Amino acid sequence: MTTAAPLDGRVAFVTGAARGQGRAHAVRLAAEGAHIVAIDVCKSLSDTVTYPMPTADDLAETARQVEATGRKVLTREVDIRDLAAQQQVIADAVEQFGRLDIVVANAGILSWGRIWELSEEAWDTVVDVNLNGTWRTIKAAIPAMIEAGNGGSIIIVSSSAGLKATPGNAHYAASKHGLVALTNALALEAGEFGIRVNSIHPYSIQTPMIEPEAMAAIFAKFPTFLHSFAPMPLKPVAREGKPGLQEFMAPEEVADVVAWLAGDASMTISGSQIAVDRGVMKY
Ligand SMILES: NC(=O)c1ccc[n+]([C@@H]2O[C@H](COP(=O)([O-])OP(=O)(O)OC[C@H]3O[C@@H](n4cnc5c(N)ncnc54)[C@H](O)[C@@H]3O)[C@@H](O)[C@H]2O)c1
Repeated sequence: MTTAAPLDGRVAFVTGAARGQGRAHAVRLAAEGAHIVAIDVCKSLSDTVTYPMPTADDLAETARQVEATGRKVLTREVDIRDLAAQQQVIADAVEQFGRLDIVVANAGILSWGRIWELSEEAWDTVVDVNLNGTWRTIKAAIPAMIEAGNGGSIIIVSSSAGLKATPGNAHYAASKHGLVALTNALALEAGEFGIRVNSIHPYSIQTPMIEPEAMAAIFAKFPTFLHSFAPMPLKPVAREGKPGLQEFMAPEEVADVVAWLAGDASMTISGSQIAVDRGVMKY
């Protein structure tokens, strides 16, 4: 006897899916049975963001990994600041797959600097992508979810910096705190359509966004900032034969939480902030 995969027949829209956590979420949701709509900007947005951005090849690799699960994928290079482009990809996805059930609003960027020393470009780019762009993702996706009439689950990727502001990236923290307000207001507004909305708050995930040189430079300049970036108290355990990462978590560990929030096992959870931080925010 075969049992259906938990997300069989559902369709998930994942932003920032070319690599890192977004790729892990796309592949994991596909492994759970969902068809995937994966977008990413796949290019540099500003010199104020100093780590390299992904390429079209990275997004193609995500598509390859999704297809390897046996599910279908629609990919497109789209900037989440572009509402019309997101509306178009959603329309194309509904035409191709017939519905939309899950949104993982994951795309985001980070840069570093003291509040009064940040350039306007650094501030504006981070807030425009992380907060304004995520609102555009929601605005583009919700009508299709309501139209499909199946309810659904929206997972907004905030950060530990969305619950506890960190020195050295206040523009990022401000944008991620803004996502908490968006999440909770949306949970109230979308609830009548059976759509659940929650935010996740990861801490120290091993992806290209975590740039050791940039962090070392900021801590060397402002040593007291280091207190806000404590090691995680929960010791990682081995997983499927692989040792747990000590200083960072793997994107796949966050994908476990996303898959739970996307599926029916979290049916009663809406308007919640889920820390994915091995307990560090309790310091
Ligand atoms: N890595 C961490 O420790 C950490 C911790 C907390 C929260 N986060 C958040 O997790 C999310 C994923 O980040 P990650 O760690 O995988 O880093 P990442 O840089 O590997 O992935 C982010 C992805 O978003 C894409 N993106 C950025 N701006 C975009 C835009 N305007 N339009 C479309 N795509 C865009 C990037 O191209 C990239 O592929 C981000 O929202 C980030 O802020 C990361």
